[in-house]
Amino acid sequence: MSNPWDERAELYRTSVTHSTGDDLDAVVELCNPHAGVKVLDVATGGGHVARRLREQGAEVVTLDPSPGMRADVVAPAEDIPFTDGSFDVVVSRIAAHHFGDLGKAIGEMVRVSNRVLVIEDMLYRTEEEQEAEKLRDPTHHRSLSIEEWHELFVDAGLEIEQELFFSKEHDMDEWLARTGCTGDEAGRVRELLAPFTSADGSTWANDYIVLKGRKSQG
Ligand SMILES: C[S@@+](CC[C@H](N)C(=O)[O-])C[C@H]1O[C@@H](n2cnc3c(N)ncnc32)[C@H](O)[C@@H]1O
Repeated sequence: MSNPWDERAELYRTSVTHSTGDDLDAVVELCNPHAGVKVLDVATGGGHVARRLREQGAEVVTLDPSPGMRADVVAPAEDIPFTDGSFDVVVSRIAAHHFGDLGKAIGEMVRVSNRVLVIEDMLYRTEEEQEAEKLRDPTHHRSLSIEEWHELFVDAGLEIEQELFFSKEHDMDEWLARTGCTGDEAGRVRELLAPFTSADGSTWANDYIVLKGRKSQG
């Protein structure tokens, strides 16, 4: 049975938002990739983080529950089929807002890492923005605020070592097309995102947090 992600897989592989950006460079750098480092890329999507890490010599395993993403391991972040401390670094970029049980997913990612967790995700700003995201893509669960991210990391036993912020501008038409959002729904999404949209309506921008956490006893 296909899922929405399988149908969109090729679009995520070629998406400029996902395949490039200062945020991607920062996530890769925070993983400190080099030969001998074992990394798990959770919710790999189009595999952009994994590709960059492999280019720098890291040994990377990709994980994603959607078969169409062609990950090494087909599994959700909430149930990772590896033993404790199997990886030096666990990374997950622009995906946590899709996880049905983020607390459980963070627990699993921390469990299989023996040192470091690097996460990037879009930040919560307003309820209207969340409504727009869900209308455009029903797989959008919820984004967290900066404070909620801090609490989640601390509760999972992580010391926050680095924190960075980015903003990304999206081509509105391309962004809506990626999830097949058209007609009245697309119109409503545009209305809800008005505070974050350019004057001509062609682009909108959102904010991202990148966090590097280290296991307190790692
Ligand atoms: C926006 S894409 C990820 C982008 C990718 N990490 C990158 O840097 O380009 C979101 C991914 O999350 C995956 N996903 C959705 N629910 C998930 C879950 N519960 N656990 C792990 N991955 C999930 C989807 O299959 C999809 O590939």
